[in-house]
Amino acid sequence: MIIAIGNDHAAVELKNLIVDMLVKQGHQVMNFGTDDSASYDYPLAGKAVGEAVSKKTADFGIAICGTGVGISLACNKVEGIRACCCSDALTARLSREHNDANVICFGARIIGPETAFEIVNTFLNTPFSQGERHIRRIKMIHDIENNKK
Ligand code: RB5
Repeated sequence: MIIAIGNDHAAVELKNLIVDMLVKQGHQVMNFGTDDSASYDYPLAGKAVGEAVSKKTADFGIAICGTGVGISLACNKVEGIRACCCSDALTARLSREHNDANVICFGARIIGPETAFEIVNTFLNTPFSQGERHIRRIKMIHDIENNKK
């Protein structure tokens, strides 16, 4: 798969560990955000990851900041993005099964590498359930985005 990953200064180390894991698994990685510790505005990386997924240059996105909150808010402003901020693998799994999430976000100051690896692997390996009620609700979310009823 092609994975877009982006981060701010709080998440450089964790991002690098995840990139190493993804490359070893045979994925192609698009690297956005920063690669050093100087202060970096997370909305830039969130927008870049969101746009790569929205434009289908990437299959999925991973976005990491200190808490995961700010960068998930930025991702979710990009049309077509369903970004889930989470700290556990169960939420990551259900975000795929129920919400067809296309970007996973978490905080480098909140979780450690092992939990992050578990979240990423669960997210990338869980299909959307295709449940009728879930399809309907996702459409309702995007109707909000498009200012429809
Ligand atoms: C940066 O200090 C911090 O605010 C950012 O990484 C993130 O936690 C924002 O939501």
